Amino acid sequence: MKKDEKDKSLLGGEFSQPLDEKENPLRPRILDEFQGQPAIKDNLKIFIQAARERRECLDHLFLAGPPGLGKTTLAGILANEMGAELKITSAPALEKPKDLAGILSTLPAGSVFFIDEIHRLKPVLEEMLYIAMEDYEIDWVIGQGPAARTVRIPLAPFTLIGATTKAGQVSSPLYNRFGISLHLDLYSPEELNLVIRRSAGILGITIEPEGVERLSRCSRGTPRVANRLLRRMRDFAQVLGRGTIDQGVIGEGLSRLGIDEYGLEKLDREILKFIITRYQGGPVGAETLAICVGEAVETLEDFYEPYLIQAGFLTRTPRGRTVTPLAYRHLNLPAPSPTGDENQRLLF
Ligand SMILES: Nc1ncnc2c1ncn2[C@@H]1O[C@H](COP(=O)(O)OP(=O)(O)O)[C@@H](O)[C@H]1O
Ligand SMILES: [Mg+2]
Repeated sequence: MKKDEKDKSLLGGEFSQPLDEKENPLRPRILDEFQGQPAIKDNLKIFIQAARERRECLDHLFLAGPPGLGKTTLAGILANEMGAELKITSAPALEKPKDLAGILSTLPAGSVFFIDEIHRLKPVLEEMLYIAMEDYEIDWVIGQGPAARTVRIPLAPFTLIGATTKAGQVSSPLYNRFGISLHLDLYSPEELNLVIRRSAGILGITIEPEGVERLSRCSRGTPRVANRLLRRMRDFAQVLGRGTIDQGVIGEGLSRLGIDEYGLEKLDREILKFIITRYQGGPVGAETLAICVGEAVETLEDFYEPYLIQAGFLTRTPRGRTVTPLAYRHLNLPAPSPTGDENQRLLF
């Protein structure tokens, strides 16, 4: 952490600990470095300032959204901006009540406790968390059988940040205990443009402005994908080109990676093709689709679908997934049923 970076922190917060064991230089550490999502950032600035002025912890915060949009990053930023210690875990790692109780009872006052994939928390742990969040206490059972008794263990005040890719699977008693709830959406190409420019600057990569444009449209609305693509393009530029990421390098690179002009990968196209050829365009259930394209249903729902939907290739209905006319055009496949055809409707 450089001195000047520390000074830029919104309220002069100290940086408690690096988020990654192996430091990720592209991960923003302060709110001003977090690109895009202006509405979320503006509100967070206010909540941070208000909590700090009152010398209180930030309210518990719920972060939802597809993978790679900055949930873990935001947790780190909030801890930094609050000058708080950060403790990170994920729900599947918490097996028994003592795992959670052990962490909660040793959190220093004012810390930020981040639980990733919070939709996977076991019910018994969830109940412990209710009291911890609301009253900063936990109920702990000592002894067994008739001699068993419950003691209340006081906790130091803390901020819980719960992140999930599946907001719909979080129970409402848990959800309702979060004072702030933020839903991250896929980034626009303009926002990804900022992410890529920042990353190229940090990594010392030379990339033409048109190259930034093109990559930002091929990054599935996701900063993590944008950074990954930028790094791969750097490899292609270094080995196949002259070091600069120009249009030629990008054209060659994207085609080698099987990414088309809409940013769709091979599996995206397979998903669409499958729905069209086997299910006449849909609807088809997520489980069936996942099995047929050989992916976990979680991966399908969390990674592939959000972008296919945002880019206008797929719609999600209660009866399943349906492709749009754009999918037929993009894959060069004939659209079905002339009755529903736009040209036909124009004739009458
Ligand atoms: N708003 C942003 N501005 C710049 N980089 C970002 C932003 N959001 C995410 N990133 C980059 O994307 C990577 C993935 O973000 P992360 O917080 O791990 O996503 P999530 O936890 O939602 O899966 C980070 O390491 C960071 O480099
Ligand atoms: Mg994460």
